Amino acid sequence: MDAPVVVITGASSGIGEATARLLAAQGARLVLGARRADRLAALAAELGGDVRTLATDVRSRADVAALVDLAVTAFGRLDVVVANAGAAHVGPLDEQPVEAWDEMIDVNLRGVLHAVAAALPVFRAQSAGHLISIVSTSGLRIVPDQVVYAATKNAVRTLCEGLRQEAGPHLRVTAISPGFTATEFVDAVPDPTRRREYREQMDRIAMPPDAIARAVAYAMAQPPTVDVGEIVVRPTAQN
Ligand SMILES: NC(=O)c1ccc[n+]([C@@H]2O[C@H](COP(=O)([O-])OP(=O)(O)OC[C@H]3O[C@@H](n4cnc5c(N)ncnc54)[C@H](OP(=O)(O)O)[C@@H]3O)[C@@H](O)[C@H]2O)c1
Repeated sequence: MDAPVVVITGASSGIGEATARLLAAQGARLVLGARRADRLAALAAELGGDVRTLATDVRSRADVAALVDLAVTAFGRLDVVVANAGAAHVGPLDEQPVEAWDEMIDVNLRGVLHAVAAALPVFRAQSAGHLISIVSTSGLRIVPDQVVYAATKNAVRTLCEGLRQEAGPHLRVTAISPGFTATEFVDAVPDPTRRREYREQMDRIAMPPDAIARAVAYAMAQPPTVDVGEIVVRPTAQN
C-alpha cells in the first residue's frame, strides 16, 4: 500500500503511540486521536511529515466521526482505522463501581462501534478499507479481576468476526490480542496495592508496545486480498 492513510485512536501513549511511530517511519499518513491533545501535538511535531491530530473522546460518536472526516479531508481517503483506545478497571465485581463498568463499555465497545459507524461508509465508497481493533488476551484466558474488561474485549472480538463476514471481498478486519504490554495502563488501577502488584508484574514480564505496533504493520502489509483475522502476541513469560 502506498503511503496508507491511517486513523489511530488512543495514540497519545502506549500501543497507539508506538503504532504511530512505526507507521510514520514506514511512510504512512496519520490521523491521531485521543483526549490528551497536548500529547498528540508533541508526538506529531516529533514525527513530522503527514500527521494530523484531533482531540477525540471515543465515547462521543461525533468526535470519532470528526476524526474520520479529518482523514478524508486532509488526505482524500482512509485506508486503515486502528481502534486502539481502551480503558481498563481491574478488581473484583464486588468492589468495582458500576461507573467503571460503564466506562469500559463506552470506551472499549461503543468507541469501536463509533469507529465502525464513521469508517464503514468511507470504506464502502472506496471499495477498500481495513479495521484493526486492539482487543486483549484477557478475553482468551479469563481471569478474576478483569471480568468486565474481558467481556468488552470479547464483544469487540465478536463484532470483528461479524463485520468480517459481512464485509465482502474488499474490506479487511483484524483483531489483535496483546498480552501484558508495558504502557500507562497500570496507572489506571485504582487500588494502590493492586496497582503496585500489576506494576511489579509489568516490570518483570511485560513486552514493549512496539511488539503490537509490528503486528499492526504486519496485518496492513499483506496484499489487499489477504485478511489477517486474529493475531495474539504475548510476552513469552505470560501464562
Ligand atoms: N497494556 C496491556 O497490557 C494491554 C493488554 C491487552 C490489550 N491492551 C489494549 O491496548 C489498548 C491501548 O492501551 P495501552 O496499553 O497502550 O494503554 P495506555 O498507554 O493507557 O493507552 C490508552 C490510550 O487510550 C486512550 N483513551 C482512553 N480513553 C479514551 C477515550 N475515552 N477517548 C479516546 N482515547 C481514550 C488514551 O488516551 P487519552 O487518555 O489521551 O484519551 C491512551 O492513548 C487498549 O485498548 C487496551 O485495552 C493493553
